[in-house]
Amino acid sequence: MNPSMPALQHVAIIMDGNGRWAQARGLPRVAGHKQGAEAVERIVRAAKEAGINYLTLFAFSTENWKRPEEEVTGLMALLRQYLRSKTVEMHKNNVRLKIIGDRTRLSADILASIDNAETLTRDNDGITVLIALSYSGRWDITQAMQKIAAQNIAFGDITEELISAHLSTAGIPEPDLIIRTSGEQRVSNFLLWQGAYSEYFFTDVHWPDFDAGILALALQAYSQRDRRFGKLRVQAS
Ligand code: FPP
Repeated sequence: MNPSMPALQHVAIIMDGNGRWAQARGLPRVAGHKQGAEAVERIVRAAKEAGINYLTLFAFSTENWKRPEEEVTGLMALLRQYLRSKTVEMHKNNVRLKIIGDRTRLSADILASIDNAETLTRDNDGITVLIALSYSGRWDITQAMQKIAAQNIAFGDITEELISAHLSTAGIPEPDLIIRTSGEQRVSNFLLWQGAYSEYFFTDVHWPDFDAGILALALQAYSQRDRRFGKLRVQAS
């Protein structure tokens, strides 16, 4: 391993291109999401094997609620099924599951499955998988501000650390690397605060085709990056 390789604890992924993957095969969009869920399983395994401690997956954004009802229902059904059928397996594999996002918009049965998954896996110390569900970066910052305001904290005591501690990712290190699939090169309201100094890796591959080999390419690209966090090279390490 390259001794000057920057530290890598947390990888986050914007899983894009399920719809295009399906369209290219003449299939309904939901078929792309289904195949995308298979890729999720593959990548959790690959990330664990690569020694990554935290993996965050953008599964459903605040904006995705505006998609056609049929697609939203299909995605929710997939997430419900994923949580119900994979929780025990994840637990056996020492995976800690955490769901981040606006829970007020989720159905009672999905909330119950989330509760069950988080409670069952909370003491696991293998990889932590965060599923961003009904999530957006602006929602996260807004809810953090609301929690802070509700505590009547003095103006001068509102620090970056305090804000970080009220985000849905409190206690989780910031993402070192954010991967986006399917050719788009934008942030799309994902981890806005937490990603302030993240490195980015873009690939044209649609999410359902993402595999351990492409993850390895992303990690290889990351290992070549010179992370300075705004400082000079001599000061950064
Ligand atoms: C973006 O592709 C993908 C989504 C909006 C959903 C991601 C969901 C999954 C991968 C499946 C379930 C997840 C878990 C954690 C089990 P898109 O539909 O925007 O694709 P397009 O840009 O090609 O239309």
